Amino acid sequence: MHIAMVGAGYVGLVSGSCLADFGHEVSCIDADAAKIEALKAGKMPIFEPGLAELVANNVRARRLSFSTDLVGAVRDAQAVFIAVGTPSRRGDGHADLSFVYQAARAIAAGLDGFTVVVTKSTVPVGTGDEVERIIRETRPDADFAVVSNPEFLREGAAIDDFKRPDRIVIGVDDKRAKAVMTEIYRPLYLNKAPFVFTSRRTSELTKYAANAFLATKITFINEIADLCEQVGADVQDVARGIGLDKRIGSKFLHAGPGYGGSCFPKDTQALIKTAQDHGAPVRIVEVVAAVNDQRKRAMARKVLTACGGSVRGKTIAVLGLTFKPNTDDMRESPAISIITALQDCGARINAYDPEGMDQARQVIDDLTFFYDPYSCCEKAHALVIITEWDAFRALDFDRIKSLLVTPILVDLRNIYDPDELDRKEFDYSCVGRGKVPPLGP
Ligand code: UGA
Repeated sequence: MHIAMVGAGYVGLVSGSCLADFGHEVSCIDADAAKIEALKAGKMPIFEPGLAELVANNVRARRLSFSTDLVGAVRDAQAVFIAVGTPSRRGDGHADLSFVYQAARAIAAGLDGFTVVVTKSTVPVGTGDEVERIIRETRPDADFAVVSNPEFLREGAAIDDFKRPDRIVIGVDDKRAKAVMTEIYRPLYLNKAPFVFTSRRTSELTKYAANAFLATKITFINEIADLCEQVGADVQDVARGIGLDKRIGSKFLHAGPGYGGSCFPKDTQALIKTAQDHGAPVRIVEVVAAVNDQRKRAMARKVLTACGGSVRGKTIAVLGLTFKPNTDDMRESPAISIITALQDCGARINAYDPEGMDQARQVIDDLTFFYDPYSCCEKAHALVIITEWDAFRALDFDRIKSLLVTPILVDLRNIYDPDELDRKEFDYSCVGRGKVPPLGP
């Protein structure tokens, strides 16, 4: 099947190359000519494990191509995916849909024969109706159907998530469009991946509900972690103890410095706004968003406490800057708030991240970058691990101790064993693994 993917960003590029790998002929379109030229030359605009290889294989097999010619690609396609950005609108937190509507207008111009227009971008309930209205208004003669098919890809594991999804949600009210969507995902159908066929509006809301629920789960365990610290309990055991209950599930119960990224913060805000507009506020999600915001900066206090109450004039070594491992994405990364708060308190920051330093340079000032964890620690007064890259999971602490001025480690992802670090005579703090308080009088 011929497919046009409008938007060669994160979602478009991963989805487009995976669909090409399923055997479809996919044309990835982007208005950014420099990006398209770079892609043609095999250069990826983002870091995603396995993506460069997947793109190269499918380009070689002539199933995947890149172009700025939207109208031409749409004319040849039976399905056109909209995978453009829906950032937070400045000022009010609503999703900014201008790129989606712009794409709809441009797509309308190219429609030729029955075409399914699929919204993959995360869009508020009712956006599909508006896309349909725009296309119909621009091209009253066009034969098309608008479908919602949200993505559930995690950065860093996106290809696997696309090819082995927990489910595929398709919001479709048109029989012919349903047949086209079934054909597109046939390989997953054969693998018995669960399909949820539903109405377009339900599908749009499902995406927000999924992200908001996951954000809630993380925030819940983060608050339990704070309580664990006060009462001398261990949040990791609590998480295991509740996660083994199949009704709760063990995933997304890792306590840490708060969620970041391009999705949870933006999507929770957008859901909050939609719900308020419809007079059905999602108060739990409102609290989750507020708690998470405060948490990021509050993590700096942990570092201050570990450093004896002040970091003025001290150097803090930070390992991990991206919002999670296996990405170069710095958007809403907890590292931004934590580092800025430490700088406000007078600290100098040494930093190392395996992939995120170029992006970090653009969003945080006055960092001194290093190219390995050990040189980053040299003459620093404390080491803080913010992101749990695999490369930080087996550090040589004898060496680190000899490099640091004081053996202080703040592990915001709980990747180390407190007893082991105690034995190495580190002053170790982490998240939600409290020491039993002394008995009262
Ligand atoms: C998230 C969802 O997981 C995807 O299903 C969804 O498709 C995507 O948003 C999207 O809407 O496009 P992503 O933002 O890539 O994916 O990252 P996650 O792996 O979900 O992590 C988000 C944040 O939560 C990270 O900062 C991570 O460190 C944090 N997190 C995650 C925790 O603090 N604890 C956990 O247990 C899990």
